[in-house]
Formats: sequence, C-alpha cells, structure tokens
Amino acid sequence: MNLKDLYINFFISKGHKQIPSAPVVPENDPSVLFNTAGMQPLIPYLMGETHPYGTRLCDYQKCVRTNDLEEIGDSYHHTFFEMLGNWSLGDYFKKEAITWSFEFLTEVLHIPKERLAVTVFAGNDEIPFDLEAHDLWLSLGIKEERIARTREDNFWIAGETGPCGPDSEMFYFRSEDEIPEVFDPEDKRWVEIWNDVFMQYEKLSDGTIRELPKKNVDTGMGVERTTAILEGKLDNYESSIWRPVISLIESISHLPYKGNEKAMRVIADHLRTAVFIAADPAGIKPKNTDQGYILRRLIRRAIRYAKKLNIDLNSDFERQIATLILDMYEPYYKELKDNREVVLDVLTQEKNKFVKTLEKGLKEFVRVASKSSEIDAETAFHLYDTYGFPIELTLEEASERGLSVDEAGYHELFKKHQELSRTASQGKFKGGLAGNSEIETRYHTATHLLNAALKRVIGPEVHQMGSNITDERMRFDFPCDHKLTEEEKKQVEDLVNKWIQEELPVKKEIMDKKEAVASGAECQFLEKYPDMVSVYTIGDNVSKELCGGPHVGNTKEIGHFKIVKEESSSAGVRRIKAVIEK
Ligand code: ALA
Repeated sequence: MNLKDLYINFFISKGHKQIPSAPVVPENDPSVLFNTAGMQPLIPYLMGETHPYGTRLCDYQKCVRTNDLEEIGDSYHHTFFEMLGNWSLGDYFKKEAITWSFEFLTEVLHIPKERLAVTVFAGNDEIPFDLEAHDLWLSLGIKEERIARTREDNFWIAGETGPCGPDSEMFYFRSEDEIPEVFDPEDKRWVEIWNDVFMQYEKLSDGTIRELPKKNVDTGMGVERTTAILEGKLDNYESSIWRPVISLIESISHLPYKGNEKAMRVIADHLRTAVFIAADPAGIKPKNTDQGYILRRLIRRAIRYAKKLNIDLNSDFERQIATLILDMYEPYYKELKDNREVVLDVLTQEKNKFVKTLEKGLKEFVRVASKSSEIDAETAFHLYDTYGFPIELTLEEASERGLSVDEAGYHELFKKHQELSRTASQGKFKGGLAGNSEIETRYHTATHLLNAALKRVIGPEVHQMGSNITDERMRFDFPCDHKLTEEEKKQVEDLVNKWIQEELPVKKEIMDKKEAVASGAECQFLEKYPDMVSVYTIGDNVSKELCGGPHVGNTKEIGHFKIVKEESSSAGVRRIKAVIEK
C-alpha cells in the first residue's frame, strides 16, 4: 500500500472522514493563485463554520508553490506536491493529535523512535511554552534531548493573517551516520516530515491575536519527501513517485539521469505541475497573467530544459511524459480523467507557440548580432522580455559567433524587472490568505442576491457561470444574449437593494447533496461538491444556493449595492461588476 492510502486508512480508523482534495486553484479565495497547504480550503471551517463532513477530517491535498522556480532542479523542491493532513475542528486537541502522529510513524510506517525528534513551541510574550506538547512526547518515549524548543519555526500561519497557532514538528534522521544524542534542528541530517499545528488563534490585520471560537488541529505531511525517506532515497526523484518519469525522460533523450539531474528534474517537475493546473476545473490556459502565466512559465521552462538535453522539440515528448503522469495520478484525481485531452492539447499548443517564439527570437538575435560585437544588457533583456528568448540561449548563440554578452548587466535589469512585478503582485494579493474578511463575506451574500435579481429581471435561465470577489468589488458572469439596458440594470440594482432593506435572514442548512438539489437549491458545479453540502437560503423565497460560504446572517449587513459596469465576458456571457457601500 502506498503512503496516501496508509495515511487515509489510519485516520479513518480514528473516526475521521476523508474529504476530497480541493482544486489547485482556490474557488472562493482570490487572494492566492494556488492552494499552498492542505489547510487552505478549510480556512472557513477553522474559523468556526460547520463542516458538512463533521469535526474529524483527513485528505490528501494538491498544492502548488511557485515562489521560486529557480530552486527547482535540486533533489527535494517541487512546484507541485501532495500534502497529507488530518484535522480536528473543535474536536480532539493535542493529546490525540500527538499520540496518533506517533502511532502512525512508529506502528504504521515502522519508523524506529530512535530516528525521530520533535520541536515544540518555546513560548513568547503572548503565548506560553507548550509544556503539554512537550510532556506528551516525553510520555510516548521521545527523550528530552530529542525535544527541541524553538520559537520562530514553531508558530504556524499561512500568510500574514488568519488562523494560526503553535506547532510541533516531527523530524527523521536521514543519514547513515550515528544518530546524535541531542537533536539540533539546524543539523541538515534531520529532515522534517510532519507538522501538527494547534490552531487556536486568529491573527488580525492589525497584528493582534485573538482566540478562535474552537480549538482546532491542522497537520501536514509531504507525500514526496516522506515517500523518499521510507524508500531510503536521498534524492526524491529516485523514489517510486518520480522514477518512472525520470526513466521515460532518459529514454526519450537517450541520456542517463546521472550528470543530467537538473534538466531532468525540471522537466519532470514542471510538466507534472502543468498537468495538474491545466486539468483543474477552473479551466486555466497559458496566458500572461495570474495562474495562466505560471502555467505558461512552467511549460516553457520545461521545454527549454528539454532543448538542453537535445530532445527533438518537434516530437511529441511532452505528450508522452504528460500521459505517464496522467496515468499515474488518475486513480486519485477524477479531473485528470475528465480533462485528459484538454491537458495534452494545452501542452502541445503552448510548446508550438514557444518554438515559434524561439525562432523569432533567434532571427532578432541574428539581426542585432550582425551589427555589433557585443550584446549589451538592454539588448539581452529585450530579447528575453519581448521575444521570450532566454539568456542561456543568448549566451550560447553569442559564444558560437564569438560575441560577448553583458551578462551581469542583464541580470541587473532582470532583477529590477522582478522587483517591479513582485511589488505589483503583492499589491494584488494584499487581501491576505483568509480571503474571508468581513467585507468579502458581505460580497458573498450580495452575489447570491444579484443572481436572484437577474433571474427575476432577465429570465430564469440566468445562473452563475463564474464569480470573483475581492475586498473592493464583486464580479459575476452569467448567460445572457444581450447587453443589459439601463432600465434592466436599474431594476436589478433596485431589487437587490430592496432585499437588503427588508433585512432578510440568511439561513444555513447542511443536507444531503441530492436532497438539496431536489429541494430546489441552485448549484454551479454540482460534481465539485461533497455528498453533504451547505445550503444558504435568503428570506422565504429570495434565493437558495449550495455554497461553501461564508455569508452574513442578515441582508441588512451588506450595505448599499451598486452596479459599476456591465460588459461582455465572452460570446453569450455577460459580466457585471458591482460594489457595496456602507
Ligand atoms: N498547515 C501546516 C503546514 O503546512 C500543517 O505545515
């Protein structure tokens, strides 16, 4: 049995329900591009919402982290990974969490306890030393010298604000060396394998910390790293998770892994991530912004490394590798089966575009190279920025022609450019991780009212085709064959405001999905919901929708609703942008 199955079975035996992995693109959280941890889709529930599956949950969650693509190529960083997790939503706390972690590691994975060490929270001005966690580990047989007390690394929060708390990390001694008596978390031979977070606080944007209504447990174990450890591999890419993909790349390139590690790891890693992003129900396609930009960069970087290995770019190598990845993961993720062709097409089309770009870039290179004996920084950067022609290629082409390149100057320009785009993206995501600020909660409920009003004014065929909320506005896409008239817009606005003034209660019920649909509740992507769902009803008869929430308790909390824009989104689809004002 593999690690995922062992883990899920173990926690089911401890009374947990397995929840489906959420999409890699968060559904109701515009503040982040991708899910980066197992807890992320659970934030509303960690903050106090009732989860339809109960109070003990477990899953394997698809995560994507792309902050530093340049790190990919070493033996253990990945842009996509799976995170195992178990959660208590106001149910059990430290005692069970730690005891079960220990039991799973030593009795299911058969890790000798002599190879384990842990950290616990040392305490700070606000939160005391975690004596309870310390004593629990001690009682299970972890020696005092193997329990390190640290501060910075033992307080877990996903971003700047949101649910958080002290944690306790578990480490494995991954080395043939004699195991030191005293555990030093800085000693690289100890690798972290699991993290139990005791999530009982929320950090607010003013920096203060308040107690959450319930004490939760959030844990995370990386599948790739732990599998490699269990299989005794120092290089994750040598484990059973990656070896088949690496072997295929070896056979396509007619080169051995040894000596070509970096290029093969980048190709394997980036194509796997691209497969999962392209297969996501959000329908991401390569483009120059947001998730589509990451997808584009991943595919292009993989192709660049394929070129380095002299793989024929006109062959279908990308499809062969993606097909193997799809086959490997399909049993776990239904969207891979449903979107198989889409994924393969996305990869091939983007590859073809990039190959054309490279040809154009090469032409431009030849043009500038014919005029001078040096490629200055601006020219090198222009080739990269406008033609997508990577610096490595500029260097290669230049050296073949005996030209010099101002490489340092290029890197300086590149850094400047990166800083600019980082600042821009920080501005965009300043909303923080939780994405459930009070204002966004009001927007969520306003979205339901807008949907209901459009049905009344335009026709019953209106439904939500897409929606996006920030703390500044809402966006709503719906099917409609014409541009709304001023009169229609006014009617919609007035109706929403009438419902707000009527101070209608917003009721939440948890019910069986089939029952919910039979009762007339509206739902955008039925198949994406679990068997038990939350249904929000506004007033007696105004709106009834399946939704993850969160919502206000009464429409009066929303404020004044105003449409600021109505435009075409695509053929037969209109888009409304609206704001609420208090
Ligand atoms: N959310 C915790 C982590 O990612 C478990 O480490």
